[in-house]
Formats: sequence, C-alpha cells, structure tokens
Amino acid sequence: MLVRLTRIEDVPLLPALERSAAQAFRQLPHLAWLADSDVMDETQHLAFVSEGCSWVAVDDQDQALGFLCASVADDALHIHELSVRQEAQGQGLGRRLLDQAFDAARHKGLAWLTLTTFDDVPWNAPFYQRYGFERLAVRQLDHRLQTIISSELAHGLTDRCAMRLAITCGL
Ligand SMILES: CC(C)(COP(=O)(O)OP(=O)(O)OC[C@H]1O[C@@H](n2cnc3c(N)ncnc32)[C@H](O)[C@@H]1OP(=O)(O)O)[C@@H](O)C(=O)NCCC(=O)NCCS
Repeated sequence: MLVRLTRIEDVPLLPALERSAAQAFRQLPHLAWLADSDVMDETQHLAFVSEGCSWVAVDDQDQALGFLCASVADDALHIHELSVRQEAQGQGLGRRLLDQAFDAARHKGLAWLTLTTFDDVPWNAPFYQRYGFERLAVRQLDHRLQTIISSELAHGLTDRCAMRLAITCGL
C-alpha cells in the first residue's frame, strides 16, 4: 500500500470512495443518516489537489482506497476529510494517511495538525486521540475552529469536537 499525492485522474473516484467510507455510520442508529448524506464533489476535491494537500492510499493497481484532504490555515494544516473505503477500513490506511499529513505539515514548517470530528464515534475522536491528537476544550478554540464547529452545528452535526496535534521533529 502506497500513499501518494492525489492526481486529477483520481478525483472522479473520490466521491464514491467517501460514500463507501460513510457506510460505517450505519452501525450507529443516531448517525446512520450520514451514510446517505452529501459528500465532497469533484470541484471541491480539485481545489485541495491544486493546493497540493490531497493524498490517496492506493492498492497495487494504483486505485484509491482512501484519501485525506487538508489545507493550510494560520499555523496549522487542517484536515478537512479523511475517508477509507468500507472494505479497506481497519487495515492501517487511515494512520498512514495521517502520517502523510503530519510529514507535509512538518515540511511546510507548520505548528499543528487540526481537525474537527465526532467526540463519541469510536473511529473518530478516540482513534485520533490514540494517534496523538488532543481534544480542545471550548475555551481553547481559536476563532477558526470555533467557526468550523458553529457551521457544523448549523448543518445538524452535534457532539463535535476540535482536536490538534503538535508538529514536532521527534515523531
Ligand atoms: C476514520 C477512518 C478514516 C479510519 O481509517 P482506517 O483505515 O479504518 O484506520 P486504521 O485502520 O488506521 O485505524 C482504525 C482505527 O479505528 C478503530 N475502529 C474502526 N472501526 C471501529 C469500530 N467500529 N469500533 C471501534 N473502533 C473502531 C480501529 O480499532 C483503529 O484504531 P487503532 O488503530 O487506534 O487501534 C475510517 O474508519 C473511515 O473512513 N470512517 C468513515 C468516515 C469517517 O469517519 N472519517 C473521519 C471523519 S473525521
């Protein structure tokens, strides 16, 4: 399994990949609706590709099994979406994509990886916490992260939390 930069020709596959990943939420009755909700469209993906902040984990046929897209915001690389095809989950691809984001943030001289996610979904905040992210209390949120959490709330996403990981040279 290889992680590489997303190419333009990968983009048409990514909305279906994200929808496949979201099927995981069917396990949770209160979030099952996410399995049928909107996913990022190709235009949104192309913006991350042109910023050089989108990566895919590919199989031996060079087909994308997972993607991570991010953007630079202040002194952080902010992860907008991390998705792994349902049948490929639990095999370490998510961690490999996080490793790639961490390396990219370090090379860019940034201080943090940040993201927002569900606090209580086993493969969301607890997974990121095991990776090394810390949950931020509401009083620790900067304006940018506050705005994201508020916008998510307005779109019906509750029980969200913001997390960050310090970029150090030692990891
Ligand atoms: C989150 C996601 C990207 C992780 O990718 P992945 O390739 O499955 O990740 P890994 O195999 O590296 O690790 C998965 C971790 O989640 C845990 N996990 C996965 N499904 C789980 C479940 N149903 N219950 C408990 N833990 C679960 C695994 O135990 C593993 O934890 P560990 O490595 O810390 O021991 C993937 O599960 C996914 O696409 N989920 C649906 C979309 C989503 O929630 N995206 C994140 C948005 S913030």
